[in-house]
Amino acid sequence: MKTITQPDEIQSWTMRQRCAGKRLALVPTMGFFHEGHLALMRWARERADALLVSLFVNPTQFGPREDLKRYPRDPERDARLAEEVGVDVLFMPEAEAMFPDGHATWVEAPTLCRGLCAVQRPTHFRGVATVVAKLFVLTNPSLAVFGEKDWQQLAVIRRITRDLNLPVEVHGRPTVREADGLALSSRNVNLSPEERGQAPAIHRGLLHVARLVEEGETDSSLLLASLGKRYAREMPLGRVEYMAAVDPDQLYPVEEVSGPVLVAVAARFANARLIDNILISRK
Ligand code: PAF
Repeated sequence: MKTITQPDEIQSWTMRQRCAGKRLALVPTMGFFHEGHLALMRWARERADALLVSLFVNPTQFGPREDLKRYPRDPERDARLAEEVGVDVLFMPEAEAMFPDGHATWVEAPTLCRGLCAVQRPTHFRGVATVVAKLFVLTNPSLAVFGEKDWQQLAVIRRITRDLNLPVEVHGRPTVREADGLALSSRNVNLSPEERGQAPAIHRGLLHVARLVEEGETDSSLLLASLGKRYAREMPLGRVEYMAAVDPDQLYPVEEVSGPVLVAVAARFANARLIDNILISRK
């Protein structure tokens, strides 16, 4: 496995590969790999001649009071794991190389950033969209793979890719979970043992909503009210930041479940903010 830290070096390496007719896959990450990241890498590996993984804790997607400093990091372990799953190039730039002094250009998809995580994190998706656009330009991938846990992020990335005619296939892959249903996240290490015990309630609640829909309930406000009651009972250490039922592509709120609907939640624990979602539709 090759490790590259310089943007111009990765760009010329990937250009040469593309000119030689190679299909490249990119898995963008912020490191501290767990099985969710590795599943994306294995899936991408099978669909390309070479697999690139970027490891960059992108400062522009953290707000001023967010957990950039506390974001877990272990680049040596990450490099070992990446090599084991067959990554060809690990791209690990420094923040100054990606966002030099005077950086002034942003990529945004504001219509997808009016609700959900964007309410509490108003500049987050602009940071994500900008870094992902830069990574696409630097690594020239044929395909790029993202986890569906970050559904809003995936919707934004799909939209900027389409709107800017970026020649990349964007793929979303299902959330990988612990045996008790908790979605894997690098931030789970920041949960206390008591919080870790309660956090699987997030996913159980989403399954409960899916069951209610199967039983015929279609009123989003009733579904979300029932979800809120469960969270208050089963997850007293987590403060629910939002619960929403939205159109899966456009992300606007839906009042009635008549087609596919995404139910998404965010909950704050003392040192970790967790998100999860479920795609449901009436049978
Ligand atoms: O999902 C993440 O890890 C990040 O938001 C991403 C897509 C790598 C951009 O920094």
